[in-house]
Amino acid sequence: MHPVRSLFLFLCACLAGIPAAHVPNTLAQTDAANATAPEPDFEFFRTEVQPIFLAKRGSSVRCIQCHTRSSGFRLQPLDEGAHFWTLEQSRLNYASARAFVVPGADPLQSRFLTHPLAASAGGDAFHGGGKHFANRSDPEWRIMAAWAAGAVSRPPATDTVVRIIQTNAAGDNSHIIDPATNTVVGVIEDVEIPHGVTSAPDGSAIYISNESLHSLDIIDSRTLRVKRRVALSGRPNNVAVSKDGSKVYVGIMEMPGAVDIIDTVTMEKIKTLPVEGAIHNVYVTPDGRHAVAGSIQTRKINVIDTSTDELAWTLEMDAGIRPMIFDTHADGSTRNIYVQLSDFHGFAVVDFNTRKEVTRIEHPEVPGEHAHLDGLQSAPAHGLGISPDGKTLWSTSKIYSHAYVHSLPDLKEIGRVFVGQHPEWITFTPDGKTAYIGAAGDNATYAVDTATLTVVAKIAVGQTPKRNGTVLMQVD
Ligand code: HEC
Repeated sequence: MHPVRSLFLFLCACLAGIPAAHVPNTLAQTDAANATAPEPDFEFFRTEVQPIFLAKRGSSVRCIQCHTRSSGFRLQPLDEGAHFWTLEQSRLNYASARAFVVPGADPLQSRFLTHPLAASAGGDAFHGGGKHFANRSDPEWRIMAAWAAGAVSRPPATDTVVRIIQTNAAGDNSHIIDPATNTVVGVIEDVEIPHGVTSAPDGSAIYISNESLHSLDIIDSRTLRVKRRVALSGRPNNVAVSKDGSKVYVGIMEMPGAVDIIDTVTMEKIKTLPVEGAIHNVYVTPDGRHAVAGSIQTRKINVIDTSTDELAWTLEMDAGIRPMIFDTHADGSTRNIYVQLSDFHGFAVVDFNTRKEVTRIEHPEVPGEHAHLDGLQSAPAHGLGISPDGKTLWSTSKIYSHAYVHSLPDLKEIGRVFVGQHPEWITFTPDGKTAYIGAAGDNATYAVDTATLTVVAKIAVGQTPKRNGTVLMQVD
């Protein structure tokens, strides 16, 4: 063997911590031939490529399940309880993956890219770990290929679209609905007991709280895979994003109560703010100045100042705090909190400035409609929405399977619409033309035309769909 080539092989193998025999000879030869190609970027590998090794793809096994025991391409095991690799572990992973890459060359010369790629798409004939990518336009495979080619960032997305995301409270997935067609256009998998959902204002990421792993899961909008799981201080419930997108607030449903605050750039928890009571739902007010968190146990509304992330004031009601929604004064500041309460079939209205309840609206029975009293979980009304034009307030009734629509600001009931068994969360398209309501008892999301109050679609989703949200999503 040529001395330089054997030295290269030796270095390469040492970096990867593997026996030299595992590095194919042809690979090293081509590598030497591409000496001018840019070196694959470490930070891009750390943040964009590594999540691929942890992600679940359909029924395939995650890369990490096999490759921590591999003598070739080797991944470091995660530390006990950790959801991601440390910087040092990432460097070792990088070195190992790097040994199977021919930088800057035809991607089909890199074993790292051809091994998990289907043979019909130019991949190797066999990979003991199966074929994870059916073709070369797969968004994850493209991330790996971009890294190998020396990219330092992802190519820009081709478009940003409006989507409705329905989480399934008894499922391990969340459904993505295109409001233009009222069809499911994608499914986010691998988040078991997804609770709340929101997105980055620029559409780059979806945030879903994960009740099974006690994490905030950051989903890459373009791959629909979990990009990072951020460990929380306890079991989460709902989530809300700050107006500028820099922080996510997560309600921790454990006494004595906290709101965890996640930095969306570093993808790390920056604060566990103690509040008064285990938190069910947390919201950011339309002006972005406050995060409002409600507790069923202490019956308290906790108002957090988002400029300091400290508790500003609390208000104790006479029943547990369930969903809330806010309207605004002409200057955009918060006017009222509309709040559903434990065992109350309707909602209360709290003046945000005086911090006092001003009225309570109880929903009447719907004549002829069967009353459901089973499985209410002390929340007969569990879903509130205000239309984007601020003119109507919607409240769902699990007892009567209807959404009750009220005019704002005068709070007169102006109509009702049947929206399935155990209806829950409500979200609107940005133009306000369609409302989407999760019908937990029907495993469906109802789409309602807001002008005529008629159901225009009943969209099959997953098990027990409760919370939903209108998001922006970047697409490739
Ligand atoms: C079920 C176990 C399993 C999974 C999951 C798996 N692999 Fe593998 N992988 C193997 C085995 C076994 C080999 C060695 C045999 C072979 O070459 O196919 C291998 C070989 C490789 C090689 C070649 C390394 C060498 O030593 O030549 C690469 C690169 C690779 N895998 C990448 C991946 C990537 C990337 C993923 C995830 C997208 C993945 N593998 C998932 C089992 C797995």
